[in-house]
Amino acid sequence: MGNKTRGQKIGILTAGGDCPGINAAIRGVGKTAIVRYGMQVIGISDGYTGLINKEFRELDENDLSGILTLGGTILGTSREKPFKNSGKGKNDLRKPALIKEHYEQMGLDCLVCIGGNGTLKTAYLLSQEGLNVVGIPKTIDNDVWGTDVTFGFDSAVNIATEAIDRLHSTANSHKRIMIIELMGHNAGWLALYSGIAGGGDVILIPEIPHDEKKISAYLQERIRGNKPYSIVVVAEGIKTPGSECSAAQYLSRRIAELSGIETRETVLGYIQRGGTPSPMDRILASRYGAAAAELIAKREYGKMVALRNNQIIPVPLADVAGKLKLVEPDSSLVLKARNMGTSFGD
Ligand code: F6P
Repeated sequence: MGNKTRGQKIGILTAGGDCPGINAAIRGVGKTAIVRYGMQVIGISDGYTGLINKEFRELDENDLSGILTLGGTILGTSREKPFKNSGKGKNDLRKPALIKEHYEQMGLDCLVCIGGNGTLKTAYLLSQEGLNVVGIPKTIDNDVWGTDVTFGFDSAVNIATEAIDRLHSTANSHKRIMIIELMGHNAGWLALYSGIAGGGDVILIPEIPHDEKKISAYLQERIRGNKPYSIVVVAEGIKTPGSECSAAQYLSRRIAELSGIETRETVLGYIQRGGTPSPMDRILASRYGAAAAELIAKREYGKMVALRNNQIIPVPLADVAGKLKLVEPDSSLVLKARNMGTSFGD
């Protein structure tokens, strides 16, 4: 077993939007820390809010047992941004100082931050305040720079693809245009992957500006080519005029007006973030968690564990903070979809 890293005490927090796989990541860090390195593991409640309010509990092997397949996060989460001064509470400016004070009072040697872009940026800023931090990239959006894929993404693609599969039969029965809106924040990864996996005829993503008239003409052309129904997969982050309705609702109305074809829309929403993680996400989250514990044992802080060509490598948080990973419009995947006849609305 090698000589254990005795006595290191680590805190784990989960922040930002929840997703399948977070508990697998907590389990990966915690079990590796305890079993392989003899560390003490502290679970911090509700993301950075728990550090501000000193809400935490020790996690032992029993706490980490039976959570691999559980959706959500046993620690709870929040979207607290300690460095963003909301201007409401007078202690806003003190939040980072409170976090540092509580980190020291809790006797932590390192803080493991499981989250997406906002969480990882806060982790980086805390490292600049002198805290030892390690980041794990989590989000269904897959928009974290520096890693090939975040955990949560594969589960969401599975959920969205199953939903799209189910739309084909009802679209065919009614000869309708079925529009489904997927999450993804400002990136189009979820719509791109699920759209291709689900056989979407039109895939609209923020990275490729679309033209309503071109979409309608393409759909009318499909009907003339004896294709009586179509599936339109839309990323929530695409640009549509106004904000009084969802992208899917707006497009459904506009396509019906422009094409004269009957349309219906579905906003899949939070279903994409619920339930048990896919096996691939369980594996990826476990790999990320174990790798994070290894970095801590080596006292290699200020890093995010990342996947590159199926290898887990450490990436400086300084390189990740404040960046977004977006779909390249001329990527080979987009090109292959276009070559198969998929429209991107442009
Ligand atoms: O970041 C994950 C995500 O689900 C995005 O895809 C979505 O836009 C956002 O969170 C929703 O935020 P909230 O959970 O705060 O409603």
